[in-house]
Amino acid sequence: MGGSLEVTFTGIRFDNPFLLSSAPPTESESNILRAFEAGWGGVVTKTIGMHPVVNVAGPKTKFLRYLPESGVLSMNRGRQGVLHSSWNWELISDKPLDWWIPRLGRIKKAFPDKVLIASIMAGSGSDKELDHWRTLARACQEQGADGLELNLSCPHMDRPDMGSNIGKDQGLCSFVTQVVKEVAKVPVWAKLTPATADIVLEAGAVFRGGADAVSSTNTFPSLPLVDPETLEFEMNVDGYVSFGGLGGPAILPQAVAKMAQMTQAFPEREFSGIGGIAEFAHALNFFLLGCGTVQVCTAAMLDHAVGPNVIKRLVAGMREFLDKNAHRGFTRLEDFRGLLRDRVVSHSQIRRPEDSDYQGGYEQEGYAEPEPTSAPKV
Ligand SMILES: Cc1cc2nc3c(=O)[nH]c(=O)nc-3n(C[C@H](O)[C@H](O)[C@H](O)COP(=O)(O)O)c2cc1C
Repeated sequence: MGGSLEVTFTGIRFDNPFLLSSAPPTESESNILRAFEAGWGGVVTKTIGMHPVVNVAGPKTKFLRYLPESGVLSMNRGRQGVLHSSWNWELISDKPLDWWIPRLGRIKKAFPDKVLIASIMAGSGSDKELDHWRTLARACQEQGADGLELNLSCPHMDRPDMGSNIGKDQGLCSFVTQVVKEVAKVPVWAKLTPATADIVLEAGAVFRGGADAVSSTNTFPSLPLVDPETLEFEMNVDGYVSFGGLGGPAILPQAVAKMAQMTQAFPEREFSGIGGIAEFAHALNFFLLGCGTVQVCTAAMLDHAVGPNVIKRLVAGMREFLDKNAHRGFTRLEDFRGLLRDRVVSHSQIRRPEDSDYQGGYEQEGYAEPEPTSAPKV
């Protein structure tokens, strides 16, 4: 048995590269303490803000499951079936900053060697809002937070200057990051939304603003499905629903695709992978594309709220992987991080049975004339 699970990410040392992401598993002091006891290398707190938060009436999260015998895909058939995804419309922490401050300090004192990242969020439409970012950043780092994660990706904000509405605007992404960096004494991670056309642009913007890492991804915009009997959305309040966020197994391949785009564009930068991770084999996708840590939400929510069994499997899975691949010289994450980053190529670069049969979809196949510089060599 050899190899080490320790990693250093944005200058912070972790026992292992597995974190709980900002979500219900990290919404309280007791949850975070339990998470550290269970073995998570770090946690990102539920997002802390300056605005009072009032959630919708009724459940904030449900789990969509597939029943293979009947083909039913439903949130309302109990725990039977195969997990497809989580769906939520939960806002950020409903506890104010004053509630969080002493707790962050106590958590850090209880587990000085575990990594505590504070997720923070404010607006961007006025000087007062920009000051909120500064206040949150200063307060959390003063309590010993090892890093800050900027929530530029909450999908449930009506305000045009907050959450994923910041994450959809390159200028705002960059500016908000810069504002926090001016006061930050600890590393700053920017959590991006997948709800944009080309996430590479927003990643570039936050790096220009000084971000030390990008965390990706938050949940994907989605709606609960309609119950064919009642003709109501499976989750609704008084018959009404709004766009919420999809997480869990269904988003793993999509989250991986977003990550591949960014790690290729910025191979020297640091990335924390999120989306659909429950097993080491899932996390491995993000590591092989270049991520230095990964984060988990849905799988942990379904495992005693903080994922004690999930973290055990992740750690055991990584140890087993290192042992099995010792002959490749893998002794730690750094030895296989980014190994497959350059294997994602444009479609026309994929080999055809006969090279001469395919011309990259250009004029030889009867399509439009290529741009002078864009015709790929096949
Ligand atoms: C109920 C719920 C609440 C969440 N709240 C937050 C939040 O406050 N801040 C944040 O950055 N992400 C939040 N997220 C997003 C998760 O941190 C994570 O990015 C997303 O669920 C994808 O990971 P998963 O597939 O492991 O669930 C939330 C997710 C869920 C399901």
